[in-house]
Amino acid sequence: MKVESVRGMRDILPEEAPRWQKLEQEIRAAFALYGYGEIRVPLVERAELFSRGVGEETEVVEKQMYVFPDRKGLPLALRPEATASVVRAYIEHGLHATGDLAKLYYLGPMFRYEKPQLGRQRQFHQYGVEAIGSLDPALDAEVMDVAAYLMEKLGLDRKRLTLRLNTIGCRKDREPYREALRRHFLPQQADLCPDCRRRLEENPLRILDCKQPQCQSAIAAAPKSLDHVCEACREHFTQVQEFVQALGIRYTLDPTLVRGLDYYTRTVFELCAEDLGAQDALLGGGRYDDLVELLGGPPAPAVGFAGGMERLVLVLSGQGAPPGAAEPALEVYLVPIGSDAKREGAKLLASLRRHGISADTDYMGRSLRKTMQIAGRSARYAAILGPDELARGEIKLKDLASGEEKAIGLAQFTADPHTFIG
Ligand code: HAM
Repeated sequence: MKVESVRGMRDILPEEAPRWQKLEQEIRAAFALYGYGEIRVPLVERAELFSRGVGEETEVVEKQMYVFPDRKGLPLALRPEATASVVRAYIEHGLHATGDLAKLYYLGPMFRYEKPQLGRQRQFHQYGVEAIGSLDPALDAEVMDVAAYLMEKLGLDRKRLTLRLNTIGCRKDREPYREALRRHFLPQQADLCPDCRRRLEENPLRILDCKQPQCQSAIAAAPKSLDHVCEACREHFTQVQEFVQALGIRYTLDPTLVRGLDYYTRTVFELCAEDLGAQDALLGGGRYDDLVELLGGPPAPAVGFAGGMERLVLVLSGQGAPPGAAEPALEVYLVPIGSDAKREGAKLLASLRRHGISADTDYMGRSLRKTMQIAGRSARYAAILGPDELARGEIKLKDLASGEEKAIGLAQFTADPHTFIG
């Protein structure tokens, strides 16, 4: 019986991998430019990290998390996101001890049991940053700027991107705002979708996230968080916007933006791309000023964001960006003719690779014609080694783009291949 991959979890094949590698390089370079250092956290954590950190009542924890007991019955989870893990590591390793701001970035797979569709998978990859230890509104703007810079570097069309921005206030502001939302939605509850009727009781903030058409008119008229936040949060948000404007980042204020994870406080934002449709964000983030304390650390306000790699790949291919595999993958394809040449060729291949020149040969017993075709597809040069060449102690190097050929002394080529390969 054939064993297939798990629904929503896909392979990235060698022809796609160069594009992913290039993206990863650009992401790492952008994050490093803004002073972030990489952190690699485990794929598996104690399940309670997310139920406490992300929130018991969030969709991510309630419906989407992969939870399983280990052999001793300890409840574990495949990480659905990385912010809680990074905060756990920050506390566990005392990264706050320096008294400095911790600027950390990550790249890697996350797991959510969602309905798979274009740009939404059960194993997906996030890139993200977390800046832990400061409440400075300039830092919120800097986090948005690193995202904006990355999109620019990747050549994304600014006009097709929208940065949505909002503040949801601090913890103290939350209950009065929830109350205001309850008062607003209660008289219209019969018109809301079943999920939202339930949310009305549990967490009316989540109603603002609902995409069901029947809920939209009630959402549009809902009280705005900005009108329910305290003076300090309002002032913070004013300053965030001043810095964002100073950096020339275009944004729209979106009073319905609340984000789906419970740890957020104050600033929240999402970058949406036209190509993904209205439902899905290219990236999202915000402040989480209480999370470090909630998970047992010292008071340490923080801000960050994460984006989905799959969505970035989608948007970039929608814009007709060239696929990553346009260049031949190899420098040299060795074409030996006969068994003596094959043995000599094996030595030559090993030597080329030790000189840092990528090289390969045929292991499928193909004909000369077929081997040359493969060389033409996969390499810049064919190195042909037949009985005549071998007898003369030479190799024939063919430039596969121009067709130009030259004979080179085998010893010379082996000793210093860089002289012949431009
Ligand atoms: P999030 O909005 O849940 O936030 O996810 C961030 C991004 O991950 C989304 O905007 C989307 O691009 C991508 N994403 C999420 N789920 C999927 C999926 N099933 N398939 C493909 N892509 C997906 C967070 O995870 C927060 N930890 C972000 C953050 C960091 N906030 C502060 N710091």
